[in-house]
Amino acid sequence: MKTKITNSALETTHLGFQVGLLLKPGMVVLLEGDLAMGKTTFTKGIGQALGIKRTINSPTYTIMKRYVHDENKLYHVDLYRLEDVNSDFDLEDYINSDGISVVEWPFKVKDILPKQYLLVQFESLGSDMRKITFSAQGEYYESVVKYL
Ligand SMILES: Nc1ncnc2c1ncn2[C@@H]1O[C@H](COP(=O)(O)OP(=O)(O)O)[C@@H](O)[C@H]1O
Ligand SMILES: [Mg+2]
Repeated sequence: MKTKITNSALETTHLGFQVGLLLKPGMVVLLEGDLAMGKTTFTKGIGQALGIKRTINSPTYTIMKRYVHDENKLYHVDLYRLEDVNSDFDLEDYINSDGISVVEWPFKVKDILPKQYLLVQFESLGSDMRKITFSAQGEYYESVVKYL
């Protein structure tokens, strides 16, 4: 586990960028925290590390948005609006081994989360200050946390 403090949205984007550089296709990043804590801001940084030029914003009306730059693919999933999660919903449909998957509000589907992932938890420490905690589930994810 590792904790970082950011003092602006830009710093959170930079942290996402650092993480993005360490990710490989097929990896899953779960972002936990309340609204406006910086989950999407952090995802923007991951996208920048992958060379994605398109603006990354919350996929409000779809569950998932896909961004591509050359070989790099980013699947940005936001389960905030997912209601009545039932057996018809399968997160695996949105997680692809050819790209990096970032999931906001993952614990809406806590029973069907993958076995290995990087968990990033966001908390507010005041207006622009955020506490961002990284924990790994799985060996390769542990090395990501170690290098941060
Ligand atoms: N340290 C910080 N890190 C991230 N966002 C911050 C920070 N300080 C202020 N903000 C603001 O908080 C909001 C975060 O929004 P967003 O990334 O969409 O959150 P979420 O996806 O968690 O709902 C933005 O308006 C951003 O400018
Ligand atoms: Mg968001």
